[in-house]
Amino acid sequence: MFILLIRRVTINQTDFFQDEKPEEYEKVLHELDRRLSGDWSFASGKVLGSMCTRPHPVAVQAFERYIESNIGDAGLVPGLIELETEICSMMGGWWGNPKVSGRLITGGTEANILALWTAKTLAAPGRREVILPQSAHFSLEKAASILNLELIKVPIDALGRADLDTARAAVGPKTLALVAIAGSTSLGAVDDLPAWAQLALDEGLYLHIDASFGGFVLPFLENTGRSSPDFLWREGYSSVAVDPHKMGRGPIPSGLLLWADEGLAQATSRSISYLSGGRTRLNTVVGTRSGASVAAVWTVMRHLGERGYTQLVDRVMTDAEWLTSALQEIPGVEPVLANPVLNVVGVRPLRRRAAEISQSLRQKGWALSQWNDFFRIVVMPHVERRVLKVFLSDLQEVLS
Ligand SMILES: Cc1ncc(COP(=O)(O)O)c(C=O)c1O
Repeated sequence: MFILLIRRVTINQTDFFQDEKPEEYEKVLHELDRRLSGDWSFASGKVLGSMCTRPHPVAVQAFERYIESNIGDAGLVPGLIELETEICSMMGGWWGNPKVSGRLITGGTEANILALWTAKTLAAPGRREVILPQSAHFSLEKAASILNLELIKVPIDALGRADLDTARAAVGPKTLALVAIAGSTSLGAVDDLPAWAQLALDEGLYLHIDASFGGFVLPFLENTGRSSPDFLWREGYSSVAVDPHKMGRGPIPSGLLLWADEGLAQATSRSISYLSGGRTRLNTVVGTRSGASVAAVWTVMRHLGERGYTQLVDRVMTDAEWLTSALQEIPGVEPVLANPVLNVVGVRPLRRRAAEISQSLRQKGWALSQWNDFFRIVVMPHVERRVLKVFLSDLQEVLS
């Protein structure tokens, strides 16, 4: 038997077919690199529209070490199950409720589906309307389609927050759940979460908070000396989605759904008998789940901790604020929000179509995110100020 070490991955004799030649790996890996050499990478610094980023190096190491593990077969990996519980209580603690129950899943889409599935499972028959802001991510449309629900969208104000009076007026006998957003995809807007929680309590409704993007920013904003929207967990919250693969510097895929209690967490669970680790209860949409993601997210959260995330949030917010001020000096565009709430900056061209400007910028090598009358930049950890300066000079050229 021989052992080959490629970046800490141990390969055993049993990994090979009979006539397989590990010496040939280089050849196929070279081909892989060649085939993917035209793809965008975060390392270029020019992907300005993504809510994902390079995972932290410690997360990469942890991921590689546990790449084979399947936390869906819980009985085989009691250690990973413990780490998953710790991830949830760490994040719950930062949100003001370490007693949450949760699962590390594939991302915000799965979390939103799972949250509405939970609400549907617990609700009286006939309730199928979900009230949510117009700014909600399209994954909630998928959830509604899968679960046969109807979405009632309420308008948003100039700051991108949902109009609560309209939401209140929309509640009726068919209402199943409310969804509020903590960090909207378009502008990073944060809804008035305490008011949504109160509405949920008044009406006895399930409230899901989609903090897929804002979940790793909001708990650290005040530490940086900035004011923060009130997000802390309060009575009325049923579940919160937070994505480590966005601002948590975790690997793709990693999302987190936190439920207020174990009863909610188990609402959709099934008891499965056939698994190698023995009978287990599964309450996620997917069966086989990446244990490597759990290992990596636990490692990066333990390593960065409150101090590391505060420094990260401070840096991206400082650059988002700097970018917003710099845009105010450029004729022909304006920032959509005069003061960014999170590290998301919308740029609205004043005399030309946003799609046309962002297309010209794409031709200059910038990957932006296009919305109706603006494009937006997410100042993620891989986005550096020196690169933003180059971007601004390209923007001025395109506008001139
Ligand atoms: C607010 C919000 N929710 C959910 C999602 C979906 O997340 P994912 O792409 O990880 O499934 C996104 C993606 O950007 C998002 O911004």
